[in-house]
Amino acid sequence: MSPRRHTVDAFPDADELSDPLLQVTDLTTAFRTPRGTVRAVDGVSLSVRRGTTVGVVGESGSGKTVLSRSIMGLLPPHGVERSGTVTFAGRDLTAMSAKELRSVWGLQIAMIFQDPMTALNPVKRVGAQITESLRLHLGMDRGEARQTAAALLESVGIPSPEKRLRAYPSQLSGGMRQRVMIAIALACGPRLVLADEPTTGLDVTIQAQILDLLGQLQDERHMTMILVTHDLGVVATRADEIVVMYAGKVVERAPTATLFADPKMPYTRALMDSIPRLADPSGTRLATIAGRPPELIDPPAGCRFAPRCPWAQDRCRTSEPPLRTAGSEAHTFACWYPLTNGRPSVPVTHDGVAP
Ligand SMILES: Nc1ncnc2c1ncn2[C@@H]1O[C@H](COP(=O)(O)OP(=O)(O)O)[C@@H](O)[C@H]1O
Ligand SMILES: [Mg+2]
Repeated sequence: MSPRRHTVDAFPDADELSDPLLQVTDLTTAFRTPRGTVRAVDGVSLSVRRGTTVGVVGESGSGKTVLSRSIMGLLPPHGVERSGTVTFAGRDLTAMSAKELRSVWGLQIAMIFQDPMTALNPVKRVGAQITESLRLHLGMDRGEARQTAAALLESVGIPSPEKRLRAYPSQLSGGMRQRVMIAIALACGPRLVLADEPTTGLDVTIQAQILDLLGQLQDERHMTMILVTHDLGVVATRADEIVVMYAGKVVERAPTATLFADPKMPYTRALMDSIPRLADPSGTRLATIAGRPPELIDPPAGCRFAPRCPWAQDRCRTSEPPLRTAGSEAHTFACWYPLTNGRPSVPVTHDGVAP
């Protein structure tokens, strides 16, 4: 049986198309709260080519999870406003009915959530949680689903998979739970995987193992991936392209090597400075970004990073810099006084990021 057979009609010849697998255009997602409207995602555009990995990076609260959920269409039913388009394999997901979306989730696009302890059902055995979607989406019978689930656990590096299928999530270590989450996400052979901080909270060795595993499965299954993280170090070696988010907006986007060689936006540079380096003597204090991200209910005028930027000028505080290209179409940034090879063109105006 071909696992994708019954979805082929919905997404004809999608793999032959040369346009991006996912195109997000001017996506805005706002929550109505008693204190006002929180624009968590504010006019984000990005595209993801087939077979590539796009890293989405930004500090906590910059809108990465809301962006991921908004792309999927996994938002609360009330109190949310979304505009813009999300075109996946040529079809606009924002125009789909709930029923149509359910045929996309898992089969076409799957999400690996930040926290496996809350995403997994604590009172259900691991096996049941995997076989459920295999039976529902792929119409497998009990025996076939069971066999496939064991094979999936094995493919995500879980020893004695038969035994683990009978375990409850709480009986597994954090690393094992994250592997189970990956197995569930990949069960129905999605084309696009949205991994939201898939290794946050795990120790560094396990983090690396899980990220390597994801990369290996991606290659084997020809998957496209969006890898969301607050840690630029995580995507440095794993993403083809990086999108930097700040306060709900994209502030820079470039192929990974370009971004590291020639960051234009001071915020990107600040994120780079906060990556630990192996060569640093132990005990070296990491540069952290001074100040806090702005309120999203009433964000500052001008560049949202200006209050924290050591190189901000008057113009930055009054007028919002648009996204523009740096040399090539592939590299865009939003800054009035961009860096050149990571170096500022204006004098430091206040304490902030170490220049
Ligand atoms: N359901 C919600 N209602 C109101 N505000 C929300 C809701 N979900 C997220 N937010 C706000 O949206 C912003 C972005 O959150 P999030 O996407 O989780 O950030 P990140 O994943 O980058 O850490 C935060 O300010 C957060 O408080
Ligand atoms: Mg998040």
